Order: sequence, then C-alpha cells, then structure tokens
Amino acid sequence: MWLLAIVPGSAVLAMASSGSTMDVPAVVQDGIAAVASKAGFKKPRFHIESGSNAGDGYTSIIYRAIIHDEDTTGADEMRLICKTTLSDTGNMVHDFLFDAESVLYSTIVPVLMDVAKLKEPLPWPKCFHANTTSARPCLVLEDKCVERFRMANRRVPLDEHHARHAVTQLGRFHGATMAMALQRPAEFDALADRLTAPYRTDAVRTFWKSWMLVAEETPAMMLERYPEGTAAHAKVKRFFSTFGDKYFSELMTPGKGVGNSIMHGDCHVNNMLFQYDEAGAVTGCCLIDFQTARFSHTALDLGTLLLSCTEKAMRDRHWDDLLKHYHTVLQNTLRDAGIKDPDTVYSWDQFVARLGDMAGFGLFLTPLLVHGMGADEEQVKELQSSCATVLSEDDPAATAGVFKIKWTSEVRRRVGDVIDDVMRWGWM
Ligand SMILES: *[C@@H]1O[C@H](CO)[C@@H](O)[C@H](O)[C@H]1NC(C)=O
Repeated sequence: MWLLAIVPGSAVLAMASSGSTMDVPAVVQDGIAAVASKAGFKKPRFHIESGSNAGDGYTSIIYRAIIHDEDTTGADEMRLICKTTLSDTGNMVHDFLFDAESVLYSTIVPVLMDVAKLKEPLPWPKCFHANTTSARPCLVLEDKCVERFRMANRRVPLDEHHARHAVTQLGRFHGATMAMALQRPAEFDALADRLTAPYRTDAVRTFWKSWMLVAEETPAMMLERYPEGTAAHAKVKRFFSTFGDKYFSELMTPGKGVGNSIMHGDCHVNNMLFQYDEAGAVTGCCLIDFQTARFSHTALDLGTLLLSCTEKAMRDRHWDDLLKHYHTVLQNTLRDAGIKDPDTVYSWDQFVARLGDMAGFGLFLTPLLVHGMGADEEQVKELQSSCATVLSEDDPAATAGVFKIKWTSEVRRRVGDVIDDVMRWGWM
C-alpha cells in the first residue's frame, strides 16, 4: 500500500550472509525450496539476503534469494524476491493486504494471461510460489533486478519516458482485467469480491480515512496561492472538505460501471520498477505491490500516477499523448482478448469522463505523496514510526493524524500546480 511502501523499495541491501541460509522464517525457506524443486534443481544451494533495511518494512519483510545448482547438469541460477509479513501474530491490515496480493498473483494473473494472451514483458513480476495457508503468508517472485529493473529515484517526478512506460503496463493490466470480466464473469465476480470485501468493513474504512484526513489541511496551507475571499479558494476549500466523503461513499468500492474493474489501488512511482539500458535510458516498467488491488475505478490508478507523480511542465507537453497512449494500449489489450469493438467496453469519451470524475483522488493524494517521496531521513523515520503505530494498533480509529505533512515550498508548488490543472480541465 502506498504509504507503507515508500521506503522499502529504495532500500539498499542491508546485509548479505554467506553460506546456505540465514535466519529466515520457515515459510520463506520452504517457499524457496519448493521453487527450487519445481524448477528442477538437482543439488540446490541457497543464498539468502535481507532485501530491506531494519525498520523499512511496514507491512512486509523482503528477502532476496539466489538458487544455484552445484550439479552442473542442473538448472540455471535463479534470483528470487520473497515477501512475508513482519510477524506471524496476525493483524487485520496485514491479513487483507497479503491476501489480496497472493490472490492477484496466484489466481488472477494466470487468468489474465490466458484471456488477454499477454506476452512478455508482463506488467508484473512472475510469481513462482504463494503460501497463503500459513499464519505467515509468503510470496516468491522473480527478482526483476536480473533484467536491469530497479526503483526510480522517488524524488524525481516522472518524465514523459517513465510515464509512458508506466501507463503502457497500466493499460495492459486494466485492459486484461476488463477482458476477464467479460469472458470469465463468474470467476471475475468471485475474485473481485474477495479483493474488495475488506474495504466494505468499518475497520478498513476507518484505517483508510485516517490517512486521507492528513490532506484535509490543504486549503489552509495554500492560502498564499489561493487567498481567502477568492473564488479559487472557495473551490479548493469545498473540494477538500467534501472529497473524503465522496471517496468513501462512491469511489472506494463502487458497483459495476463503465471503467470499473480490478485495479492496482496504489499506483505511484514507488510501486513500480523501471528498466534501464546501459546508457541509463528507461526501457520498461513493471508494476509491483498489488496489496491494495480491488474492484474499483481504473481511472483512480491513472489519475494517481499522472497527477501525483509528475510535474506540470511535463503534463503541459505530454498529457494528451499519455492519455491517448494509455487508452490505445488498453483497447489493444481488449482486441487481443478477442473483443472486436473495444469502444463497447471503454470508449475514449467514457475514459476521459471517468478520469475527470476521479481526478480528485490524485489531487487528494498529491500532498501526501510529494511529502513522502521528498522525505529526508528524519521524515522517513517519522513516517516509519507512524506506520508502525498504525499497524500495531488493534483499533485503527486510534491512528488518525499520526503524522503531519511538511508543507515545504516544493510541496505547495506541486499541489498548487495540480489544483491549477484540475481546475483548468473543469474537473474541480
Ligand atoms: C506454507 O508454509 C507452512 C509453514 O512453513 C508449511 O507448513 C506449509 O506446508 C506451506 N504450504 C504450502 C502450500 O506451501
């Protein structure tokens, strides 16, 4: 999930152990061994490293594993990422986040690949093993580092090249889930419901609300740009005082409707890997961290990505192209799935209208994300401890306002630029 994922991805390898295994949870060891056996290793040797710094993992711990075959006639080396919960004590938030990600990788992805005939590079990492029955769930995924994927610098807003690769994979993902809804409706409905059910519970809604409340001070923080008494101030104020309710009543768990499907739910730069060539040019993108995948408005994903993770100068030049590209990729994915007229599923006009309806979410998240992405070490520590607090609370209601946005000039400028765009496009 978005806040909880801010740091782990940028983590440097904290430690490496030589020898066969370090002290890792049994479920991780079992998972790696299961993958080795399935992949045909004859005499596997395991090297396991911590993939996250101490304190980095908010909802999860990451291990990196290398499997090497001492028998030279055996399988080729494999590099894996293993993701498990911080502890096995169980917690409402851990449970539904891990359940969603496991269901997505192990059950939904194979159907998407089949329905939409997706070819590599896939929009997500391959999953080799998912253990959801253990008290401590575990996912074993391919390590995309092998193919030169890594996190982008979270402090740098997406340029048009990064944004284009990101919307390509988002368009393929959304197109594939829309195709699945049409072609395997019963299966789709059951899985969508499993992902979405937690969001209808009071506990999860309250948890979510505590994060969104943090942004409500935005109008008060933007008085220099939108002074009291101006029409713009009134609009901003009305928007920020009503959007939260609109989000919870209409947007978070909507019913069926045009553009609604299984979506990522937390679609920003820290939940993506980018691939770079030797010269440093970006050549691909891979969506990761599907812990908040659910049935909702796909336009929430695109709006978050293109409003919260970009600069106005880039949007001014490339906005229309990026939207066209996303929509084209989505429709091509529907065509590959055998849908002859994708306009009957999601036409350009429908898409643009949905994006406008959802733009508020990207705007609402912008102060939070810009704060999080620009956080210095001190602020990262603060975010980590507030996340730890949230996750250790039995009562999510107790966690409201656990951290404060630092309204630097950078945060104000980025937020104001998004407000200006959203107003100019008639979306506020
Ligand atoms: C899941 O992990 C537990 C604990 O390591 C193990 O006992 C169980 O067999 C695993 N299940 C699967 C399906 O791998």
